[in-house]
Amino acid sequence: MSKDWWKETAKGIPQIITETPGPESKRINERTNRYMRGISSQVKLFPVAFEEGSGITLTDVDGNRYLDFSSGIYVTSLGHCHPKISEAIAKWANKLMNCHDFATPVKEKLLEKMVKVLPGNLNSVQFYSDGTSAVEAGIRAARAIGNHHEFISCFRDFHGKSMAAVSCAQMVRGDVYSYGPTRATGFYMVPRPDPYRPLFKKEDGTIDTDAYINFYEDFIRESTVGNVAAFVLEPAQGWGGSIFPPEDFFPKLRKFCDDKGILLFDDEVLAGMGRTGEWLCMNHWDVVPDIITLGKSFGNGFPVTAMVVKEEYAEVLDKISASSSYGGNPMACAAALASIEVIEEEQILENVRRVGAHFMKRMEKMKADHPIIGDVKGKGFLLGIELVKDKATKEPFEEAGKLVYQKAFRKGLAWIPAGHILRMSPPLIMDEKYADMGLDIIEESIAEVEKEFGYK
Ligand SMILES: Cc1ncc(COP(=O)(O)O)c(C=O)c1O
Repeated sequence: MSKDWWKETAKGIPQIITETPGPESKRINERTNRYMRGISSQVKLFPVAFEEGSGITLTDVDGNRYLDFSSGIYVTSLGHCHPKISEAIAKWANKLMNCHDFATPVKEKLLEKMVKVLPGNLNSVQFYSDGTSAVEAGIRAARAIGNHHEFISCFRDFHGKSMAAVSCAQMVRGDVYSYGPTRATGFYMVPRPDPYRPLFKKEDGTIDTDAYINFYEDFIRESTVGNVAAFVLEPAQGWGGSIFPPEDFFPKLRKFCDDKGILLFDDEVLAGMGRTGEWLCMNHWDVVPDIITLGKSFGNGFPVTAMVVKEEYAEVLDKISASSSYGGNPMACAAALASIEVIEEEQILENVRRVGAHFMKRMEKMKADHPIIGDVKGKGFLLGIELVKDKATKEPFEEAGKLVYQKAFRKGLAWIPAGHILRMSPPLIMDEKYADMGLDIIEESIAEVEKEFGYK
C-alpha cells in the first residue's frame, strides 16, 4: 500500500455544498441533544454531524467535505480509517475480542515493539482504554514506588477527568466547573515556564528556568509535608495551547527530581507517539522519565492507552492490581501495533519534522503580518497561534479565538478551539500542500476577524 493512500479522498477538499452546519446536521444535533448532555465546547460552537472519515478528510451528513486539522482530538493521527490499522482491528474483531489480561500473540508483538521504540528502560507496561485511567494508574504506581503520597503538577496542564487526574489540573476552567471544596488532598499546582508569558525573567527579559526550579524547592519546603511522590507534567501543554517549555526546563527538572528523590511522571497521552516528530515528546530533551502514559495517537482512534514504568519499578505494577476489563484486548493491541508499524513504514516521524518546520515558518510570517497574532508555537504537528488584543500588553483575545474557529470551520476546516490560543493537530500524514491549505483558511479567517474588530 502506498503511503499516499489518503490523497485520493482528499481531492477537491474543502468542498462545502450547503450552509454549515447543514440541514441534516442541524436535525441530528437537535434530536441528539434531547438526550445527550455534557457536550464539549467545540461541538457547541459548531454543531455539525459527521458521517465519514478517510485520511485527512472528514465528511458531514450533508455531504460537506472538510480538511481535518484536529485528528479527532489528537487521536486519529495517522489519518481516519488508515487501511492497515482498520484491517488489523477487524481481524481481531472477528477472531477474539476479549480474554481479560491473558497473553495473546498480538499483545506479545506489541510489547516487544513498544519497548524498542521507548527510550531507556521504560519497559514495564499495563494497558487501559482511556488516557484518564492510565494517568490514574500512574498515580497509584507512583505512590507505591516510594510510599509517598503528594503530587505536584502545573498550571494549564491537563491530565483527564477522574478525581486524581482533575486534581492535577486547573479545576475551574472555561465552561468546566468542579463542584466541592477543593482538589484531592496532597495534590499541588505550581507554575511552569511559558516562554511567551514568563513569570520569572532574567535581567535581559528572557525566561529564567532556574528561578522556576528554585521556586519548586521553596514550594515543597513551605507547602507540602515533604512526602512528594512525583511531578506529573505534560511534556508540552496540549489543552493549555500547544505550549512548549524552554529547552533547558526538563533536563533541569530531571536533575531536581533525582536530587530530591521525586519521580518524574511524563503524561504523553496527547504529545506522544509521533505528534512532535519523536516517539515521545520528552525525547526532544533527552530526558528519560520514570513513568509515562500513552493514549490518543497510540491506537489511532481505537481506545487503547498504556502506563509504562522503568524496569526498576516493574514489581510495583504487580502490587497495585493494575489490570482492567478492556485494557490490552486483542483489538486494542492490534490497533496499537499497526499504528507503530505505520509510523515506521511510512517514515511518519521524518514527515512530521519536515512539514512541522514548514508550518512554523509560515506561522512566523503570519505573526509578522497580523496585529492580533501575539505568538506562534509548537513542534512537529502540535501547533498553536496565540491571539492577543495588543502585542505590547499581550491581553488574551478570547472573542477573536471563538470567531476564527467558527469562520474557518464554515470554510471547511475541521479543528479544535481553545479560547484565545488556536490549537492545531493535523494528521501526521499531511504534506505541505494541505498544511498551506489549512493555514490559508485560518489566515483568511483571522483577517476577517481583524477587520470586524477594526484592526485593519
Ligand atoms: C495530556 C492528557 N492526559 C490525559 C488525558 C485524558 O485522556 P482521555 O480523554 O482519553 O481520558 C488527556 C485528554 O485530552 C490529555 O490531553
